[in-house]
Amino acid sequence: MNYRRLGRTGLKVSELCLGTMQFGWTTDEANSIAVMDAFVAAGGTFIDTADIYTMWGPRGLAAAGESEEIIGRWMKQRGTRERIVLATKVRGKMWEGPDGEGLSRARVIRCCEDSLRRLQTDHIDLFQCHWVDLDTSIDETLSALDDLVHSGKVRYIGASNYPAWRLMEALWQSDRHGYASFVSYQPQYSLMERAGFEIEAMPLCKHHGLGVMPYSPLGCGFLTGKYRRGVKVESIRAEEVRELYANDRGFALIDELEKIGASHGKTVSQTAFAWLLTNPVVTAPIVGANTAAQLQESLGAAGYRLSPSEMESLNSLSSYPKNWRPIWD
Ligand SMILES: NC(=O)c1ccc[n+]([C@@H]2O[C@H](COP(=O)([O-])OP(=O)(O)OC[C@H]3O[C@@H](n4cnc5c(N)ncnc54)[C@H](OP(=O)(O)O)[C@@H]3O)[C@@H](O)[C@H]2O)c1
Repeated sequence: MNYRRLGRTGLKVSELCLGTMQFGWTTDEANSIAVMDAFVAAGGTFIDTADIYTMWGPRGLAAAGESEEIIGRWMKQRGTRERIVLATKVRGKMWEGPDGEGLSRARVIRCCEDSLRRLQTDHIDLFQCHWVDLDTSIDETLSALDDLVHSGKVRYIGASNYPAWRLMEALWQSDRHGYASFVSYQPQYSLMERAGFEIEAMPLCKHHGLGVMPYSPLGCGFLTGKYRRGVKVESIRAEEVRELYANDRGFALIDELEKIGASHGKTVSQTAFAWLLTNPVVTAPIVGANTAAQLQESLGAAGYRLSPSEMESLNSLSSYPKNWRPIWD
């Protein structure tokens, strides 16, 4: 495993971050524990969760918080807390009522306390705003986050899914008021989803030195190569994945990933991770796995980098329309 500084901080994180949205949703507690054990055994230190994980299953809101609870029990049983850089998120709906979601001062502080309890720890290493709350001023959110940093309950703060203008506004307001500042950004970013990050936020992250943690790095499983023409895939996410990506463009990318991977003795998914890891803006893609075996394959991407010509061929097959390109490109 390689380790990288998270943006401009001095904090070192493993170059693969373990995502835990699957825990309690598409995988059970025993498999979640096996995944975390395999991750730390391979030198992984960086784990990402969120308070709302995972309320997309049939139990809805009742299941929110279970991913954090599973991680909390695992850290307690294994005594791993001090080896982990623990990231979680706040913003999504956690209870019914007018204050059930958002980034108000009241919620940011209450939800942090709730996450600490579920995670059975006294501090969160990276506390992230899951997505924007335009009903709350950025100053209110940042001042609450700043208080959490000063109280020692949170070490660093980050943002996810923010449009670039809001992310820039947050950096500016932190600077203006002397508040703790976002040190990282978590966008959806993969060979299947480039424009949303690359056009605006990527140059911002590069310029301001934010750590970047791409989520859904395998296009929700498509870039594993298991989705082929006429092949049925068993996954809760299969229908959505097929609808989004199973087309000529997607399959051409899989063919190229397979070809490049074969020349390195690597798989399709490892090569999709390598495309991210070769980009100097990226700190740590977030790996999602339902089993230890799935995770092991992804861990095989650690240290794997692509040549400029391999990057160019994947960039060209995954390019987006020219009129989407930023004016400085
Ligand atoms: N900030 C946000 O808004 C946000 C949003 C989404 C995710 N996230 C974070 O990012 C993490 C990763 O996201 P993601 O799950 O969408 O990532 P992904 O890497 O695009 O997809 C992961 C899925 O691919 C499949 N897979 C992985 N390895 C495989 C293998 N070796 N063989 C076959 N299938 C394999 C599994 O799904 P199947 O077995 O079901 O096919 C797995 O759950 C999440 O856990 C979460 O922590 C953050």
